[in-house]
Order: sequence, then structure tokens, then C-alpha cells
Amino acid sequence: MTDFTQFPPSFTWGVATSAFQIEGGATADGKGPSIWDTFSHTPGKVIDGTNGDVACDHYHRYPEDVAIMASLGVDAYRFSMAWARVQPQGKGAWNEAGWDFYDRLLKELESKNIAAHITLYHWDLPQGLQDEGGWLNRDTAYHFAEYAAEVARRFGNRVKTIATHNEPWCTANLGYGNAQFAPGVADLKQSIQVSHHLVLSHGLAMSAMRKVGSTAQLGIVLNQWTADPATDSAADKAAAEFEYSRSVEWFMDPIFKGKYPALALKVHGDNAPVVQDDDLEIAHQKIDFLGVNYYFRAFCSTETPPRQPECKLGKTDMGWEIFPDGLTELLLKLHADYELPPIYITENGMANPDTIVNGEVPDEARIDFVKRHLKALNDARLQGVNIQGYFLWSLLDNFEWNSGYAKRFGIVHVDYETQQRTPKHSALWYRDYLIQQRPQKSAHAA
Ligand code: FCB
Repeated sequence: MTDFTQFPPSFTWGVATSAFQIEGGATADGKGPSIWDTFSHTPGKVIDGTNGDVACDHYHRYPEDVAIMASLGVDAYRFSMAWARVQPQGKGAWNEAGWDFYDRLLKELESKNIAAHITLYHWDLPQGLQDEGGWLNRDTAYHFAEYAAEVARRFGNRVKTIATHNEPWCTANLGYGNAQFAPGVADLKQSIQVSHHLVLSHGLAMSAMRKVGSTAQLGIVLNQWTADPATDSAADKAAAEFEYSRSVEWFMDPIFKGKYPALALKVHGDNAPVVQDDDLEIAHQKIDFLGVNYYFRAFCSTETPPRQPECKLGKTDMGWEIFPDGLTELLLKLHADYELPPIYITENGMANPDTIVNGEVPDEARIDFVKRHLKALNDARLQGVNIQGYFLWSLLDNFEWNSGYAKRFGIVHVDYETQQRTPKHSALWYRDYLIQQRPQKSAHAA
């Protein structure tokens, strides 16, 4: 694929990471433990037996990482804050040394003219709150709102966007539904109640941040997909409708319509969440942007074993189907169904079994992946969807949750023994692509 897609000059080009996946510094300067510290230290939970104690050591190496971003010429950096770093127990005392870290990181970004897009919660709940019931405990939503307000107070005028949650679907479904992620619970009813508390906490945090007042755009990041029936059978079609309803509409409808989607609610039956009187009104308030993370589509089969998609473009190292058309379709469907605010594609990228060959990392498959998805999102843009930016996941190879360090998503290779960073071919391609997009803004000096 060689075609070049021209985006408007105002389009935001970025890279994304999250705190637990890159920071390390697990106990540095008063940081409290999070559920991912606990989970990754529990034998059998992470495939390669690793944890986030050191990760990419970004806590100490952030100046180098920001310099790499500057050398690529990106406009923006999306990262998350580790709640337990700034409030070790998740409630009560703040940890000034933790705040200082993010202050230093922001200064570094400001010095390179890279806009900060922060996420408040990328799955690393302070363990102290987990000990009191975690997201199953409604109180956690109120503690989250206090933390959100404090971030807005301290940093709200220095960052471009603040997202409340990253992919609450994963927190609920993988953390509480199938136990793949921290805290490792497998209980459908609990996972649905957790999803409600996440939606509630989003609304409470939005109100708390609005009260503080800041220049940051406030929103949420959702992982989304289209759901295609594997065959024309009525059962597969019904499965696909339910999948879309329980995954995409389940989070979109409360926020944009103030209610849960009827189909998912009906199928959930007795597992439907306990919702208090004003909850959905709290969840239903204007957001300034919607972050969409897109990796694959859902392919819904009721056969045993389930029918698999053809995977015409192949699969990534995660085994995920490469399906860029799904991104166009998803964005157009969202645009038709909701009054959307501006959208950022806050994550998109692929795992690839990258290795260093003569000092280089030839990951041409990733370049092809990104090109195809940029074309797909531009197709949606040209059909009227307001898309403001794209963040490639990820800047660095990092701790890929229960896959540990075995899966590499970075455009920059990390040697975990030496912590040496090596830009892959995809990083160099992205740098050149950005120069082509906006020739007036040449890459910053590293
Ligand atoms: C997303 C997560 C991100 C990373 C990518 C591969 O679901 O938000 O942290 O793990 O998948």
C-alpha cells in the first residue's frame, strides 16, 4: 500500500502509553501499591511471570523518552497517571513526591512543545481501595472524583485533555468477568455492577473537574469494535447484536443518552446492575471529546468451536485479526447513533515479534497496519465524522498486562536488560510521515 492520505494541518499526531506499563518505580518516593502490583506478583497471573517493578524505567528515564518523542516530531503524548503514586491509599493524604514526578514530566513535555493528554485511570487502582471492595464498592467512585478534581486543580491548565477512564469495558469484563486482569475476579454479576460504578465514577469525576474549572478538554476513552455475525444464521446475528449492545452501547448510552441499552439490559436479566436514582443523570453530561481505542472487530459465532474470521490481512502477534475496515464502519455507526463531540483515536497499533537485526528493527508489518488504519479513519473523516487526532499505541515496548513483556507494541524497541531504546522502522516511518503531513513543522531536534 503506497497511497498517502493528507490530513488537515490542525490534526493532532501522537503516541500513547500508560503508567503501569512503562513507569516502573513501583515503590519509589512513597508510591502505594496498586492492584496490578499485587496481581502481577501473584504466581500464574502473568504469562511470562514478570511484573511492573521496573518496566521501561520511565520513572527515571522520562527525559530520554520525551526526547525520543521530540525527535519523532509528534504533537502530543497520551499517558496515564498512577493514582497510587499521588495518593498512595486512593483516599486521604496526597504524596507530593508523586505529584512532583508528573510535574517534571509535564515540564519536559512543555519544553519540547508536546501537548499532554492525560488519563486518570488506566487500570491501576490503589490496593488500599481494593481492600475495601474496589470498584464493586460504590464508594470508590466518590474517591475517584476527589482524585480527578485534584488533578484538574493542579494540572488542568497545563494539559490539553483529561480522560476519566481508559477502557472501562476491560476493567469490568477482564478484571471482574473472566479474571484475566487485576483484580482477577470471574463473576458476571459483579462485573456488570462494576461497569455501572465506573460509568457513575466517570460522571462524578466530570462534575468534580468542571467545578474546579480548567482549560483542559474533559472526556473518556472507550475501546470499541463493530460486531459482525460469522454467518447469516439468526443465532449469529442475534449474538452480534447483543455483543455490540453489551460492549459499545453499554458505555455510550448512559453517557450520551442517560440510559442503558434495552437489549443488553434485557439479556442481563437478574445480573443487571443496581442503579440509584440520579446515577444515570450524573453519567449523562456533556463531554468535550471521546477517545476511541480500536484494535479489531468482534466476530460473533454461535457454533462450537466458534467459526473464525477469514483474516484476509492476517493477524497480529496477539492473535487479533487485522481489520481496518471495522474502524471506518464503527466511526460511521457512532456518528449516526449519537451526538458526538470531537473524537480522538486514542489507541491503535499492533504487537509484532520484533527483534534487532544489525542494529535495526525492521517492523514493516506495523507500518502497513498503521497506514491502513489511517486510511480507514480518514475515510470516516471524509464522510463527516469529526476526528481530531490519532495516537499510536505505543511509544515503547512495554508491560502488556497478563502477556507480560512477551508482546511488543512499541514503535521504539526496549531491551529490558539494558533499558536501551532503539527506534524501529515504524518510528522512523512515522517521523517522516509527520513531516510529509505538515512540512511547515519540521521534526524537533532530539
Ligand atoms: C488496550 C490497552 C493498552 C494496551 C493495548 C494493547 O486495550 O488500553 O493498555 O494494552 O490494549
